[in-house]
Amino acid sequence: MSETPIPPNDPQEDNLLDHNYDGIQEFDNPLPGWWKAIFWACILFAVPYTWWYHFADGNSVYDRYEADVAAKIAREGGDGPVAADAAAILAAMNDPTRLARGKAKYGTICFACHAADGGGVIGLGPNMCDDSYKNITKLGDFVGVIVNGIPGTAMVGQTLSPNEVVNVAAYMASLRGTTPANPKDPEGEVIAPWAAE
Ligand code: HEC
Repeated sequence: MSETPIPPNDPQEDNLLDHNYDGIQEFDNPLPGWWKAIFWACILFAVPYTWWYHFADGNSVYDRYEADVAAKIAREGGDGPVAADAAAILAAMNDPTRLARGKAKYGTICFACHAADGGGVIGLGPNMCDDSYKNITKLGDFVGVIVNGIPGTAMVGQTLSPNEVVNVAAYMASLRGTTPANPKDPEGEVIAPWAAE
């Protein structure tokens, strides 16, 4: 095996190293300048980046997630989690923002069977504007009906957050006493006025 190194074409760039591995030699070529520039730029960039996002005010992915969650809770009507119960529904009935959110939710899901104005649909949902109810005797009953549905009927349980349940229940309860365009005949029993129980 020849030990004679292949003469480099350009001695400036192709410097053969002294090592000789079974006749195999390697060049000592420097990395291109642009490559080294990117390498150093990355390291320099990392210093202020790490300082800003990990130690200073920088809006990290985690911070943005927290902000998004807070915005979602606010959008659904509340500064935080709410217990879906009669007191919350009664409070929401006096809160125009929550009522508006409940109305919007009603308009995307419930209107199909309960009619846009709550008057009810023949063969489907009952009239929610009169004083008669089939499965409701008090405000708190809305929660169970909305979350679990009414077995054996077209009223299926809805996948809604507690805030959404409270809002839509409040809106539905607020329809009581209004005058729908085509009211369905009363179903169930006449119940007492809404109260916080
Ligand atoms: C696919 C049709 C359908 C949709 C959609 C629907 N419901 Fe119903 N809902 C019914 C039917 C049917 C009943 C009556 C069940 C029975 O006969 O007991 C009912 C009953 C109810 C009752 C009890 C009324 C009473 O008189 O006891 C409430 C409260 C109610 N729905 C709320 C909602 C809300 C809130 C939504 C939207 C989030 C909704 N429903 C969406 C079909 C529907």
